[in-house]
Amino acid sequence: MDYTINVTLQTERNVKDTSKIPFGVQPTEHMFMAEYKNGKWHNTRIVPFADLTLSPFTLCLHYGQTVFEGMKAFAMNDGRTNIFRPYKHYQRFSLSLERMCMPQVPEDLFIEALHQLVQLDANWIPDGEDGALYIRPFMIASEGRIGVKVSDEYLFMIVCSPAHQYYAKALKVKVEDRFVRAADGGTGAAKCGGNYGAAFYPTELAKAAGYDQVLWTDSRHHEFIEESGTMNVMFYIDNTLITPPLSGTILDGVTRDSLLKIAKERGINIEERSISYREIQSALDDGKRVEAFGAGTAAVIAPIEVIAIGNKDYNCYIGKDAIMYQLQKDLLNIRNGNTPDSHNWNYII
Ligand SMILES: Cc1ncc(COP(=O)(O)O)c(C=O)c1O
Repeated sequence: MDYTINVTLQTERNVKDTSKIPFGVQPTEHMFMAEYKNGKWHNTRIVPFADLTLSPFTLCLHYGQTVFEGMKAFAMNDGRTNIFRPYKHYQRFSLSLERMCMPQVPEDLFIEALHQLVQLDANWIPDGEDGALYIRPFMIASEGRIGVKVSDEYLFMIVCSPAHQYYAKALKVKVEDRFVRAADGGTGAAKCGGNYGAAFYPTELAKAAGYDQVLWTDSRHHEFIEESGTMNVMFYIDNTLITPPLSGTILDGVTRDSLLKIAKERGINIEERSISYREIQSALDDGKRVEAFGAGTAAVIAPIEVIAIGNKDYNCYIGKDAIMYQLQKDLLNIRNGNTPDSHNWNYII
């Protein structure tokens, strides 16, 4: 690797009990930082977590040139720490950066920075099966210049926070028939800040109507299911696991990919294809058992118990023997070292 990561240790830790910390509020002691200027990454370092100082002219504050990732590290049963599929997250980070005209981070720098940071702050991983260290790599356009342009300078950082299960209960979602998250040719497959800011308004309307999230549909027909919140979605109907394809408008979820591979190994029928809300509706109208769930790093698996289509609420199956829980269990077993990691998904520190 061409980069040396300088480390300045934070010696004081004022949080002892990580068991009750809500998601995303408590940083760990350290963070990684690097600056991009004159076509190169400089000053690669791990330092005590601290606020940033930015000029009000900073480009990302105005034009949204920002990209992020979200991944997790876990404590394995044998006491070792693993980061789940960092290379797959790196690939997606790279694609997002390209889409947003931002410079690439060399893979070895990304992995080494993650490794050193997680090694330092792994003692923040809360106890229990759902305890994890949430890891947030991100990049922002940092040039101080107020004109609309691609930035010449960037800041790449990694911060961490202790995490537990994201959603405590099964979700109620509403099929969105007015607003869209992403259209063909847009930024739906990139993990860029603007996608999330634009999703808030429709999501708040859904919440005001008593739902947790919207189930996004395609921009042309408002009919084919896309994804939901910070999750890909999957349905289990007629012994088949169905999930929307990677069409360019949804995120290529690492959890989605992992669950599909696990399901395949279990001999489950898999269909990556467009799925209309009408198909789900008619299966439910016919009295079929339909499982619906979100899949994502934060939530792992989020069972969906209600899907609102038009003015009607439909109930999905969330019984204990649901396939989604078996898939989740398989994934947890790989991560905590109970079953062999045949795909090399665990990056062990
Ligand atoms: C919009 C969106 N879709 C899907 C996902 C799930 O992706 P992953 O499983 O990689 O966390 C996320 C979370 O990162 C997301 O933000």
